[in-house]
Amino acid sequence: MRVLIVGAVMLATSAGAAFAQNAADGEKDFAVCRACHQVGDSAENMLGPQLNGLDGRKAGGVADYPYSEAMKNSGITWNAATFKQYIHDPQAMVKGTKMPFAGIKDDTKVADLWAYISQFDDDGAIKKK
Ligand code: HEC
Repeated sequence: MRVLIVGAVMLATSAGAAFAQNAADGEKDFAVCRACHQVGDSAENMLGPQLNGLDGRKAGGVADYPYSEAMKNSGITWNAATFKQYIHDPQAMVKGTKMPFAGIKDDTKVADLWAYISQFDDDGAIKKK
C-alpha cells in the first residue's frame, strides 16, 4: 500500500512538471503567433483575435473582432483536439479562413502551444490548477 501511494505521488508530480515544461516550451513557440495574436493580461486584437479563454471558446467568438465568414460559420469549439487539427493546416480545416499561416506539423510543438495558450482564462489570468 505504502509503495502504491509513493508511486502515485511521484507520478502526479512528474506529470505536473511535464505540463509546466510544455507550457514553457509553448510560450517560446508562441513567438510565431505573436506577430498577429496576443494572449494574457491586457491582450488585445491585432491582425488576429486575442486568444484568452480559448479552451472551450467558440470559433469566431471575440465580439469586437472582424472574422471571416468561414471562421464565424465553422461551428468549431476550441479544445486540444480542434486546436491541433487547425494549427496543423488552418486552410484545410477552415476553408476560406483569413489566417495567413501555413501551419505547424510537429505534434509536440502543437501540444506545447496548447499547454501554453489554454492556461489563460477569459480575463487573461493564468488559471489555478
Ligand atoms: C500572420 C498573422 C497570423 C499568424 C502568424 C497566426 N495567426 Fe491565428 N489568426 C489570424 C487571423 C487573421 C485570424 C482570424 C481568422 C478568420 O477570421 O478567418 C486567426 C485566427 C486564429 C484562431 C481562431 C480564433 C477564434 O477566435 O476563433 C486561433 C485559435 C489562432 N488563430 C491561433 C493561432 C496560433 C496558435 C498561431 C501560431 C502558431 C497563429 N494563430 C498564427 C492571424 C494569424
